[in-house]
Amino acid sequence: MSVHKEAKRITTQVLHEMKQNGERIAMLTAYDYSMTRLVDQAGIDIILVGDSASNVMAGHETTLPITLDQMIYHASSVVRAAKRALVVVDLPFGTYQGNSKEALNSAIRIMKESGAHAVKLEGGREVRESIERILSAGIPVMGHLGLTPQSIYKFGTYTVRAKQDEEARLLKEDAKMLNDIGCFAMVFEKIPASLAGEVTAAVECPTIGIGAGADCDGQVLVLHDMLGITQDFSPRFLRRYSDIGDQMLGAIQNYVSDVRSRDFPSKDEQY
Ligand code: KIV
Repeated sequence: MSVHKEAKRITTQVLHEMKQNGERIAMLTAYDYSMTRLVDQAGIDIILVGDSASNVMAGHETTLPITLDQMIYHASSVVRAAKRALVVVDLPFGTYQGNSKEALNSAIRIMKESGAHAVKLEGGREVRESIERILSAGIPVMGHLGLTPQSIYKFGTYTVRAKQDEEARLLKEDAKMLNDIGCFAMVFEKIPASLAGEVTAAVECPTIGIGAGADCDGQVLVLHDMLGITQDFSPRFLRRYSDIGDQMLGAIQNYVSDVRSRDFPSKDEQY
C-alpha cells in the first residue's frame, strides 16, 4: 500500500511513514497563491516557502535581505492555496541565530500569522538551542545542512560542501543531533552523494536532497529554476523540466507587438 497515495493531507507522520515504506518524497519551493495551486494539484508532498524568495521573487543577490514580515506574506499566500501538501517556511537570516527566545518568537509568528505547518532553519550544533526551544512549543522543525546559503559570506562560494573528511565528520554529527532532538526531516544541500546516502541510512527522519544525490529520501528544487523561469542559473544538479521562461517571453513579445500594431483588442474583444 502506498502511504502518500492514501494520505489526504501530508503530515510529518506521513513523511516518516513514507521513509519507512521506501517511498520517495517530492518537495518544491513556492512563494505565491497561483503557482502553489499548480504545485499542490501536481501531488507535491512538501511545499517550501524558501528564503530563496529573496533571489527569485525580490531579485536580491543572496537570501540574507528577506525579512520575517516578507516571509510571512509569501507563506500566507502559499497556505491559502495548498490543500494537500505540508507547508514549511524558512526562518530568514537574523531571526533565529541571536538567541533561542528570538528564534521561538520568529517561529511562532510564522505559524500564527501564515497558518504554515512547520519551519526550516539552517545549521547544526550552533543553532541547537534555538531548534530545541521551537520544538518544545510543538512546532515541527526541518533542519538544513551542507551548503547553507545564509552563511555565504562565511563560505565565500556556492561550491560543494563537506568534501573534506573533517567537514564530513561534523556534518554526520550534526545530522545525528538534528535527528535525535526531534527534527522531522532535514535538507542536505550540495554535499557528496555518498555522504548523503550514508547519513540517510543512519537517521530515522527523512532526508531531502538538493545536489546531494539519489540516495536521499526525497528531492527538492527551486520551482523557478526547474520550470526554466530563472535562466542564468544552471548548476549540475538542476534538471530543467520546462522552458516556460522562453514561452512567457514569446507570449509577452507577441502581446507588445499586437498592441503596437492595433491588432489587440479586436472587435470581438471589446464591449
Ligand atoms: O530557500 C530555499 O529555496 C531552500 C532550498 C534550496 C532547499 O532552502
